[in-house]
Amino acid sequence: MENFDEVVKEIAAAASPEALEAIRVQVLGRRGSLTLAMRELGALDPEQRRKAGAALNVAKDRVTAALTEATARLGRSALEERLAGERADVTLPLSFDATGRIHPISQTIDEIVAIFGEMGFAVAEGPHIEEDFYNFTALNIPPEHPARQEHDTFYLPDRPDGARLALRTHTSPVQIRTMQAQEPPIRIIVPGRTFRCDHDATHSPMFHQVEGLVVDRTTQMGHLKGCLIEFLRAFFGLDDLPVRFRPSYFPFTEPSAEVDIGCSRKGGELKIGAGGDWLEILGSGMVHPQVLKNCGIDPAEYQGFAFGMGIERVAMLKYGIPDVRAFYDSDLRWLRHYGFLPLDIPSLVRGPLS
Ligand code: DAH
Repeated sequence: MENFDEVVKEIAAAASPEALEAIRVQVLGRRGSLTLAMRELGALDPEQRRKAGAALNVAKDRVTAALTEATARLGRSALEERLAGERADVTLPLSFDATGRIHPISQTIDEIVAIFGEMGFAVAEGPHIEEDFYNFTALNIPPEHPARQEHDTFYLPDRPDGARLALRTHTSPVQIRTMQAQEPPIRIIVPGRTFRCDHDATHSPMFHQVEGLVVDRTTQMGHLKGCLIEFLRAFFGLDDLPVRFRPSYFPFTEPSAEVDIGCSRKGGELKIGAGGDWLEILGSGMVHPQVLKNCGIDPAEYQGFAFGMGIERVAMLKYGIPDVRAFYDSDLRWLRHYGFLPLDIPSLVRGPLS
């Protein structure tokens, strides 16, 4: 009978999966030495057959175990080799041949998320195709409400169950989805795409907003003011930026306030900062008790504030971009000029925010 000690040694020394497979076929294959030896057992008398059979079974177990072990060993070394080959030295200097740029909208969203992230806000998202209920009704905008006309909504065919569908006209429906899904305390921002049938130098049919929502037992107007003043000063990088809250109306907040920041328009040039003029920048207010109720939150126990802001608008103001349509022209010269280097990661302590 073949010496299977030798086979086990050969297996342990096999240098590749192919070499291993060749040995397996030689020993355990259909015409392999062990297979043939097993087949010959039938010709032996019962006593000899029992002894030889037991020995062959032991040999087969040893060979199989050695094959399993060798397969694992070769797998490990293949992985190590691959990892060594794919290693990247992250301490190498940045290649200045890199031509890609971060789009100003992505950069602005990253900046907004960095600031609110420091304040403890989480990021929430919702669908672009939205039900009429979330986009309007639950936000206290019933059918026939005049606010619906202002939204220039893109409607889609109704769903088979009769639900009216539209491209969301604002990020506010995510307030409803969040309050329905999660118990207070809630502290979220919602950056995302929004859609309105409108197109000129300051309007694009697809644009971006960021929504904010805070709901807790003692949330009040002072928190809204402090939070937004802090955000606007960090975002525009001006510690003394004047911020003004002006009474306004939104169906989903009561009271409501529009927020203006200080600017100067001297010589026809717009400059953000103390300058005697005002520029409207966002909408805000205390969440309407009816909206809380629509989401199953008891307004006797909880209060909230909310705000909504156009991302293109603040990006244009911060980075001096004159025409909103250029954001979506994919003009490489524009991207090279207004885009950001991939490693300019926004944060409150360094980079473009400081
Ligand atoms: N959804 C409003 C819009 O698109 C913006 C807005 C105003 C959002 C006030 C709010 C808010 O959350 O409190 O015009």
